[in-house]
Amino acid sequence: MTNKYKYFVANWKMFGDIKSVNSINKVIKISRMKNFNKSKIIYCPPYTLLDKFVRKLKKTNIQVGAQNCHQSSFSGPFTGFINSKMIKNLGCNYVIIGHSESRNVGETDLLINKKIKSSIENNLKIIFCIGESLNEKKRKKTKIILSNQLKKGLKNIKNIKNTIIAYEPIWSIGTGVVPKNKELLNNILFIKNFLRKNFKNSKPKVLYGGSVSPKNVKNLVKINQIDGFLVGGASQNSNKFIDIIKKTFN
Ligand code: PGA
Repeated sequence: MTNKYKYFVANWKMFGDIKSVNSINKVIKISRMKNFNKSKIIYCPPYTLLDKFVRKLKKTNIQVGAQNCHQSSFSGPFTGFINSKMIKNLGCNYVIIGHSESRNVGETDLLINKKIKSSIENNLKIIFCIGESLNEKKRKKTKIILSNQLKKGLKNIKNIKNTIIAYEPIWSIGTGVVPKNKELLNNILFIKNFLRKNFKNSKPKVLYGGSVSPKNVKNLVKINQIDGFLVGGASQNSNKFIDIIKKTFN
């Protein structure tokens, strides 16, 4: 067991209905146990369930976040969107930005940069996702891709104390394939060093995301540079999510 806090971000993606809110009762119970008081659990359900989650988790130490936001801090004629101010107003404290599934449908680095700025303005903590594709990895471009995403996404941002990076190789998301420990450690150190160099006195936090499961988490935890996990598929099943948390600490 480590002394550091470990983050467990549950990214429910476009899954979940009103009934599924109760499925997290078991996780709430676990979060109150002493053994796991070094865990920071954050639920990121779809927009439709944010209010339910905020109400349900009010008297717990579990936080709630949105999976994306509009880049404008101001209300306006943007049909179909919600912004970081609205998310904060709802009682959420986190927002995921730059997920590859959002980049995939046209979210650019410039847009991501605007979204991060507006989220900082509205006092949200940011889970900023970066990661390379399989093709980029094969062409040995991973580090160029990661540094470009960081450079562009964090352009003109002075302070990253409320920004957590989630390193999610695209080829690991939903595939059951995770990077080898050596490769993962190398990329996480690269990200941390980049941030330390570009943001004075920062203490970068980097999560790993991509097919995290009860089966592979014990091995991933061996990489002590990992500050936690962004869990997609497995987080929608509370037993699996709890298993991931337990195996991180035991
Ligand atoms: P996965 O998703 O755990 O299902 O691979 C992770 C993510 O997309 O954040």
